[in-house]
Amino acid sequence: MELAHGRVRLRPLSALRRDDWRRVHAHFRDPEIAHLNGTPPNRMPLWLLRRVLKADASRSDRATFGIFDERDAYVGTAELYDIQPDRATLGIIIGERSHWNRGYGPEAMHALLAYAFEEVGLEVVRLTTFADNPRAQAAFRKVGFREIERLPAREGRTDVVMTLRREAWRAGRTEPAPHAAAALDTAPADE
Ligand SMILES: CC(C)(COP(=O)(O)OP(=O)(O)OC[C@H]1O[C@@H](n2cnc3c(N)ncnc32)[C@H](O)[C@@H]1OP(=O)(O)O)[C@@H](O)C(=O)NCCC(=O)NCCS
Repeated sequence: MELAHGRVRLRPLSALRRDDWRRVHAHFRDPEIAHLNGTPPNRMPLWLLRRVLKADASRSDRATFGIFDERDAYVGTAELYDIQPDRATLGIIIGERSHWNRGYGPEAMHALLAYAFEEVGLEVVRLTTFADNPRAQAAFRKVGFREIERLPAREGRTDVVMTLRREAWRAGRTEPAPHAAAALDTAPADE
């Protein structure tokens, strides 16, 4: 299965190549990314991390995808977890810093949300992020998520809970991706 939006492709973890798994390993060990996720940096060797992530991804209540950019480079992971008949929770990590603040996160979320709402048939997708992660909140707002509550979290941090309902997502859907449109505008007339 492949999901697409703009420059981004989402593929199951089974599509990851050896070099892609090296990047996964680096992302999970990165202290800044770990802090943004509220987890300690992962210390597993690559072979064990791969085994654990593949086992997690095979759960029937999860849909986990690698995010690939327009050069087919693996840049991160996006998933739905705690999938129930009408709802699920979204998680996303763009692990490549070179790809932060450049719209890849929102594009990956659009691909995942199209799958969630139009293929799985969910009514609502929720997520939790930290109040001290304004980049993530900005990206989530861009695709239509709205804050519903703030809750105390560990280590004095605050969780921001956001949700997006199918109807709101359909109403606000932005297509085509701005980058794709810009590329078309500058293409020679005979292409
Ligand atoms: C969070 C994440 C998915 C967002 O994806 P992205 O592709 O970087 O998102 P965007 O391209 O929309 O950029 C983020 C927006 O936040 C803005 N932003 C960045 N830092 C900011 C800050 N400190 N304060 C306010 N806004 C900020 C950017 O300017 C950009 O908005 P703009 O396009 O209007 O200028 C991605 O950065 C990521 O995975 N980061 C590391 C892990 C993480 O935080 N995961 C989420 C855990 S819940």
